[in-house]
Amino acid sequence: PRKIIIDTDPGQDDAVAILLALASPEDIDLLGLTTVAGNVPLPLTTKNAQIICELAGKANTPIFKGADAPLKHKLVTAEHVHGETGLNGPTLPDPTMPVRDQHAVDFIIDTLRNEASDTITLCPLGPLTNIALALQKAPDIADRIQEIVLMGGAYFEVGNVTPTAEFNIYVDPEAADIVFKCGAPITVMPLDVTHKALTTQEHIQGFRDMDTKVGHAVVEWTNFFERFDKEKYSTPGAPLHDPCVIAYLIRPDLFSGRYINVEIEITSELTRGMTVADWWGVTDREPNATFMGDVDADAFFALLTERVARL
Ligand code: BDR
Ligand code: CA
Repeated sequence: PRKIIIDTDPGQDDAVAILLALASPEDIDLLGLTTVAGNVPLPLTTKNAQIICELAGKANTPIFKGADAPLKHKLVTAEHVHGETGLNGPTLPDPTMPVRDQHAVDFIIDTLRNEASDTITLCPLGPLTNIALALQKAPDIADRIQEIVLMGGAYFEVGNVTPTAEFNIYVDPEAADIVFKCGAPITVMPLDVTHKALTTQEHIQGFRDMDTKVGHAVVEWTNFFERFDKEKYSTPGAPLHDPCVIAYLIRPDLFSGRYINVEIEITSELTRGMTVADWWGVTDREPNATFMGDVDADAFFALLTERVARL
């Protein structure tokens, strides 16, 4: 199994990603969850991480609290999508499992230094603040990262928070800039992919059929989460963004993309947080990321339901 750290701001879609990882021990060894401010402020994203682990019956999962604000900008949150708790939908008990004392950034650094080089994959599902802080504090870790597989950015699908920016990158573009320049192998799940992974009735049926506490929770999360997209864009469901990252680790063959240069816009007021992706290779800038463009959505949901049914 691949050793990973999930860096997250749950979020209903983060929650499904975490469930998929926890349900897949043959493929994934989840060393810890690190939390970051994003969809909602840090105390809530941390509490939500605890709620999700307890729901999955995995209260022994190490959780580490990270950055409560982006590097340079004021935190922008997304309660309009995820609800005031960040995890609106089912009513779940207040968590009792512990959060570790160590700061998330130090956990990331220590893990990368203590484990063999090229054996740790970082999976950021929110703003890239923690990863950037780790790279700033310990530049030596960049060479030791096996891969960074992240959800963020957009190219053909442009933006979901401004006309040109995707939420995770927009919230902390300076952090994203540091990560995209760090030299580690990077795989990106942008909106171009995630907007194909839609929670249609057929795709969600597998979760209904489980008839488990976890299955019901996922159905209620998606019911809540998709009302925003359905109302705003008249789509038949919502994009299940973050699980694409974990699914890629298990079934990379479900995704396709291009190894290209991606730069982050950090100076322009108008297009701040844009992922300037050289999809057509029109510059001679060095490729630095595999930018995905497509996913087999039916197979993706089949994988999700097959795995999550185990919890
Ligand atoms: C990303 O932003 C968050 O709202 C979701 O959890 C996802 O990580 C999509 O733009
Ligand atoms: Ca997220």
